[in-house]
Amino acid sequence: MAILVTGGAGYIGSHTCVELLNAGYEIVVVDNLATSSSESLRRVRELSGKDFKFYQIDLLNREDLEIVFKQNKIEAVIHFAGLKAVGESVRLPLRYYHNNITGTLVLCELMQEYGVKRIVFSSSATVYGISEHVPISEDAPLGATNAYGRTKLMIEEIMQDMYVSDPIWSIAILRYFNPIGAHSSGRIGEDPNGIPNNLMPYITQVAAGGLKELQIYGNDYPTLDGTGVRDYIHVVDLAQGHLKALEKVMSTTGVEAYNLGTGQGYSVVEMVAAFERVTGRRIPYKMTDRRPGDIGICYSNPTKAERELGWIAEKGIDEMCLDAWRWQSNNPHGFQEEDNLLVESNIS
Ligand code: NAD
Ligand code: WQD
Repeated sequence: MAILVTGGAGYIGSHTCVELLNAGYEIVVVDNLATSSSESLRRVRELSGKDFKFYQIDLLNREDLEIVFKQNKIEAVIHFAGLKAVGESVRLPLRYYHNNITGTLVLCELMQEYGVKRIVFSSSATVYGISEHVPISEDAPLGATNAYGRTKLMIEEIMQDMYVSDPIWSIAILRYFNPIGAHSSGRIGEDPNGIPNNLMPYITQVAAGGLKELQIYGNDYPTLDGTGVRDYIHVVDLAQGHLKALEKVMSTTGVEAYNLGTGQGYSVVEMVAAFERVTGRRIPYKMTDRRPGDIGICYSNPTKAERELGWIAEKGIDEMCLDAWRWQSNNPHGFQEEDNLLVESNIS
C-alpha cells in the first residue's frame, strides 16, 4: 500500500516526501513539473536512501492519472499539486481555477472510483482573507481576496460536500501560514521561478548578491515597527504536520481543517534582523508603499493541530533563516546544476 503524493516535486511536497520515506511509508509521486524540477526528487532519493515511483503526469489528464490508480495500491493521498502565485492568479484566473479546481476534481473522482477516501489537502491561511482578529482560529470567518485564494476556498467547500455525500471520506484540510526554510542538509529547498514574490527567497537572493536590495512593502501597518507581521513556519515542521494529519485520516472519518503555524508573528524588519544576525550577511532594504492586497497582521492559533493531531512546530526563526541561507548558498541556481547552466550558456 502506498501514499500518493501529488505535487511531490515542489517545495513543500519534496520535504514531505523525505519525511514520509524516513518514517517508512511507501510513496508514489505525481507531478507535471510545471513549477518544479525532477532534480528535487533525485535529491529526495539521495536524502532518504529510498526509491519510489514517479509519474510525470498532469492531474488534468484523467486517463494518465487513472494509470497511477490502476498500477498501484493507493491507501491515501497527500494533495499538494497546484499553482500558487497570487499575482499571477489575478492576471490568469481561468488558468488557476482550471488547474487547481479541475485538477482536484479529477483526482477526487478517481479516488472515489478506486475506493481511496483519505486525503490530506494543502490549503492556506489565505482563506481567512482580511481577518479582524489574531491569532486566527479555524472557525474564523473565511473569505479570499484573490483568485488563488478562492481556488483554495472552493476546494475546501468541495471537500466538505464530498464528506456530506459519503461519510466514509476522511479529509484533513491543512491551512499553512508562511512556510520558509529548507532541509538542514541544504540539498532541497524553495526554488522560485524568476524574481521571488515571497519574503524569504527574496532575502536570500539579496544576501547572495543576485538582487540589489529588499523592498519592504509598507511601514505604516499597526504593528510594532509598522511592517507586516506573519507566522513563518519551518518547512520541515510543516512536512511533519502532514505525517500527523495522515495518521489522523487513516484512523478516522470526517472532514477537519487545521492551522499549521507556530502561533508567533514576526515583522518584516524582525525577519531581516534575524537573518542578518544568524548568517552574518547584510540585507540592504528600502521602505516602499504597501503591496496591494496585503494585510497587516496574520498569525495562527495552532492549538487545534496540537490537540487533535499531536503536532506542534518546533523550529524557531533562527533555524528557518539559517536553513534557508544554507540552501541558497549551496544552490545559487536552485535545482539547475552549474554544469547545465554552463552548457546552456555555451549553446546560446
Ligand atoms: P510548488 O509550486 O513548489 O509545488 C506545487 C507542485 O505542484 C509543483 O511541483 C507543480 O509542478 C505541481 N503541479 C501544479 N499543477 C499541477 C497539475 N495540474 N498536475 C500535476 N502537478 C501539478 O508549491 P509549494 O510551495 O510546494 O506548495 C504546495 C501546495 O501548498 C500548493 O497547493 C500551494 O497552493 C499550497 N500552499 C503553499 C504555500 C507556500 O507559501 N508555499 C502556502 C500555503 C499553501
Ligand atoms: C510576507 C511579508 C509582505 C516580499 C503569501 C500568499 C499566501 C501564502 C503565503 C500560498 C508581507 C512582506 C514580501 C518583499 C516585503 N501562499 N514582503 N517585501 O503575502 O504573507 O503570503 O505567501 O498560499 O497566500 O499571499 O507572504 O512572503 O509574500 O510576504 O516586504 O519583497 O513580507 O508585505 O508583510 P504573504 P510573503
